[in-house]
Amino acid sequence: MRKGILTIAAVGLLTTGGLTACSDDSGDGGAAAKTPKIGVILPDSKSSARWETADRRFLEEAFKAAGVQYDIQNAQNDKTAFQTIADQMITSGVTALMIVNLDSGTGKAVLDKAKSQGVATIDYDRLTLGGSAQYYVSFDNETVGKLQGEGLSKCLTDKGVKNPVVSYLNGSPTDNNATLFKAGYDSVLKPKFDSKEYVKGPEDAVPAWDNAQAATIFEQQLTKANGKIDGVLAANDGLGNAAISILKKNKLNGKVPVTGQDASTEGLQNILVGDQCMTVYKAVREEAKAASDLAIALAKGEKKDTGQTVKDPEGGRDVPSVLLTPKAIYKENVKDVIADGYVTKEEVCAGAYAKLCADAGIS
Ligand code: BGC
Repeated sequence: MRKGILTIAAVGLLTTGGLTACSDDSGDGGAAAKTPKIGVILPDSKSSARWETADRRFLEEAFKAAGVQYDIQNAQNDKTAFQTIADQMITSGVTALMIVNLDSGTGKAVLDKAKSQGVATIDYDRLTLGGSAQYYVSFDNETVGKLQGEGLSKCLTDKGVKNPVVSYLNGSPTDNNATLFKAGYDSVLKPKFDSKEYVKGPEDAVPAWDNAQAATIFEQQLTKANGKIDGVLAANDGLGNAAISILKKNKLNGKVPVTGQDASTEGLQNILVGDQCMTVYKAVREEAKAASDLAIALAKGEKKDTGQTVKDPEGGRDVPSVLLTPKAIYKENVKDVIADGYVTKEEVCAGAYAKLCADAGIS
């Protein structure tokens, strides 16, 4: 099935784009003689604010600093659009393509096609299972999940709840990162469920990390648990905010700790108010810079040693990788995210949040 799609797509490109596949005999992957041009496909703008507010900004910053041509586009959670954008970028002569896949199947098709055209490839943030990217740049995603599990556990201890019922709002089932986050928080929470220190409540994965759907799902979880949920492991700030909106409706916000990820403005504000227990900050500027350095090297036909690999559990490949370190954020260190230039004080401390910011030492 997959093979069929690939063949048709490749033929389509040959006839319409007029490019010849695999005509390279220089042994450098076809990039050395070309002017570096980097294409980036972001996944959407709703599952997390980060893609448009952080990744786009920091990738532009890195590409501009390096003086390379670039084209950053957003597939808006549309898999067909994702493939069309990739085709256009390849036809327009990108020498390196960086993707944040919407699922491994469509991601693989795009990577394989780019490779067959001599375009260098990078999996940015999400590993494409069974894919062919030359590099993978991300954070240590299992550690992200571990910080969430530890964070929830710390906040439940602070609240002094005995045998708390914990529900899970996992990320998209088609995002390998969601699998890694869950492995991380399970490593902390499962032993507590097994020892009956905690009670496992409802668990659901949220398709495509859809925030609106997450609210409906959490409302159902709360009903299913007869209103008795004491802590919510939400895999990112958007899902956390969805749970908080339902907790608010039930006058339970602030009483039930909720986790998150991405240190979004909304997530940080929820922490300042006390509706969210913690978030995980990932310094996207560093992620963008690392990916940009690799993409530029590849575009010049150079190879860089990242000193680390990640095993693709589906393809069995050891993918050369850069994995950065995430950081847990609580009310006390919201200021670190601002000091790092990820979000501004003006955004986070607007209006009613000004006093809460002052209380949290944000000056
Ligand atoms: C990213 C998260 C993001 C989520 C939803 C994951 O792959 O690592 O930072 O919140 O996707 O976009």
